[in-house]
Amino acid sequence: MKILHVVGARPNFMKVAPVWRAIDKMTDFDQLLIHTGQHYDKNMSDVFFNELELREPNEYLGVGSGSHAEQTAAIMVAIEQILTKNKPDFVMVYGDVNSTVAATIVCSKLLIPVGHVEAGLRSFDRTMPEEINRLITDQISNILFTPSKDANINLLREGISLENIHLVGNVMIDTLVRLLPKSDISFMKEISYPYALVTLHRPSNVDHDIMLREIIKTLIEISKSIQVIFPVHPRTKQKIDEFSLEIPDSGNLRLMEPIGYLDFLALQSRAKVVITDSGGIQEETTFLGVPCLTVRENTERPVTVSIGTNSLVGKDMELLKEKMYNILDGKFKHGKVPQLWDGNASIRIVKVLKSM
Ligand code: UD1
Repeated sequence: MKILHVVGARPNFMKVAPVWRAIDKMTDFDQLLIHTGQHYDKNMSDVFFNELELREPNEYLGVGSGSHAEQTAAIMVAIEQILTKNKPDFVMVYGDVNSTVAATIVCSKLLIPVGHVEAGLRSFDRTMPEEINRLITDQISNILFTPSKDANINLLREGISLENIHLVGNVMIDTLVRLLPKSDISFMKEISYPYALVTLHRPSNVDHDIMLREIIKTLIEISKSIQVIFPVHPRTKQKIDEFSLEIPDSGNLRLMEPIGYLDFLALQSRAKVVITDSGGIQEETTFLGVPCLTVRENTERPVTVSIGTNSLVGKDMELLKEKMYNILDGKFKHGKVPQLWDGNASIRIVKVLKSM
């Protein structure tokens, strides 16, 4: 069986890595790795391939940035040629980025079956580009690999047949479990404890002048009580420059370039608190037992709130500060790890593939 994996953006890389490794141990599968080039900077892509010990992609499509239509269309055109040339038996797609939906649409027209890893997550917020990507990808994928029970319920409600849904657990946690022991690195010596770790890149937070200004003002205030470490996503950097936001270069609010997987894991696992709008980080903090404050009105990962350490603060900066100061006083939810977030999700995926 020839399996072709499509990845393109930073959060895809830690999801494909454990699946690739698990399939690689099987003699009856051939694999191909296609990188669309949706993310292309060294620190958004190459560093992850190195640290996750992923092989070089068989094909790099180099689509780069653009509007949603431009980016999605460019991926579709390029991927159609790759699929026609390589004729895979099965295609695996990951998460909810534009590369995921673009590849799935092309496969469905070429009648190539698709497996979607991280299927069924819903924020029920159709203003999020990722929610549109999730809805379309799941409707036209053939096999849906879900990370948690809520995802199965969402898919069944949308009319997906039960026999196509497989609750396998969280592949991102497979990578975390494997690499956490390697994440204790010298970089951490430059950081003083305790610290809050911040990541922000959602268009709803960073693409609007007033909102981004408000968030930065709040971080400056928070940094009077605790050191704030903020690796800045390229989208956010671009917006900080565009809106001419002034950020004092005080030692207590440290802005830095995006960092690699191992450094980020080291920072995350030792943080007093994480402030984020990322999906994956809500999951990783839940696994690590680190309190997480999510600057979003909703989440497609509700188990991180109901079971884990995550709290949604929406756009309410006063609430963010209140929760932040409670955490500094030791008052926070300790949380548990959701079922099947155990490092073996990719092994369960391989079992399903073998049974096909
Ligand atoms: C994308 C995903 C988002 C995911 C995020 C993780 C979609 C719709 N969005 O958002 O779900 O959470 O990745 O990072 O697929 N840029 C660079 N270098 C890069 C990549 C991007 O400088 O390597 C800059 C470009 O100016 C680009 C902007 O960042 O225009 C945004 O990149 P894009 O891929 O459009 O979306 P992300 O915000 O990264």
